[in-house]
Amino acid sequence: MYSVVEVEEIWEVARNIKAFRFSKGYEFTPGQFIMVWLPGVGEKPFSLAWNDLIVVKRVGPFTRRLFELEEGEHLWIRGPYGRGFEPKGKKIALLAGGIGIPPLYAFARQNHGKFEGITLIYGARSKEELALMDVEEYVDEVTIATDDGSAGRKGLPTDLLAERKKEFDHVYACGPEPMLKAILKIMNHNNVQISAERYMRCGIGVCGSCNLGKYLVCRDGPVFDGSQLRGLL
Ligand SMILES: Cc1cc2nc3c(=O)[nH]c(=O)nc-3n(C[C@H](O)[C@H](O)[C@H](O)COP(=O)(O)OP(=O)(O)OC[C@H]3O[C@@H](n4cnc5c(N)ncnc54)[C@H](O)[C@@H]3O)c2cc1C
Ligand code: FES
Repeated sequence: MYSVVEVEEIWEVARNIKAFRFSKGYEFTPGQFIMVWLPGVGEKPFSLAWNDLIVVKRVGPFTRRLFELEEGEHLWIRGPYGRGFEPKGKKIALLAGGIGIPPLYAFARQNHGKFEGITLIYGARSKEELALMDVEEYVDEVTIATDDGSAGRKGLPTDLLAERKKEFDHVYACGPEPMLKAILKIMNHNNVQISAERYMRCGIGVCGSCNLGKYLVCRDGPVFDGSQLRGLL
């Protein structure tokens, strides 16, 4: 069930954020994730940023080891798993917080030209942590918010959404949980799809470690309709 893939290309996207491009592409729906196994270290889920690409932030032991990998080395991968984003709406907003950008980047890249307008509202701690890649090619507008005001507006991406929500008929979001909660409140759980994050082990609905109320995030998500998350986030 694992495929062994060569990491063909590695590059730095932003501070403590690297992209890893594989020798093999996967058929996927943006929002779906793969399980990446590093023998002797462990296994973690990562959203596909494209069919052959993951974008990773260095956080703890697993990602530290991943960052030591060199081009030409191998990774063990299973998946893609889970439910991805479903294209809905005409004028849409993508709300990304921090390392929540990869699945939304994939969604914009796969669906550009299919909507009347795509606005990316992207929040990060500072300018150095913005992992924009070439997303501008796939969206109509990029609006940035940073905690320290070093790029775009000083403040939270959710402030921008609250001001402009009437412009959008559907919102897609991925990022830290407080941001997701704020988005659900602003949208009153309607016309919003949220990619949720829980600690995962099996990735296939067996171990129960990723439970979120009555759902298992790996099997029923990670993308949920806002209405499914009432009382849960
Ligand atoms: C569906 C999905 C998609 C993801 N996509 C991406 C992506 O595209 N890019 C990316 O960089 N990351 C992504 N992640 C996060 C990734 O899987 C790792 O959790 C992250 O990289 C940290 O791993 P680490 O071992 O380096 O850090 P860790 O040492 O695991 O620490 C990271 C955080 O996880 C917490 N944690 C660790 N173990 C547990 C536990 N047993 N129970 C609860 N909390 C725990 C720690 O408190 C810490 O805050 C995704 C996660 C999910 C669920
Ligand atoms: S990670 Fe095991 S059930 Fe979801």
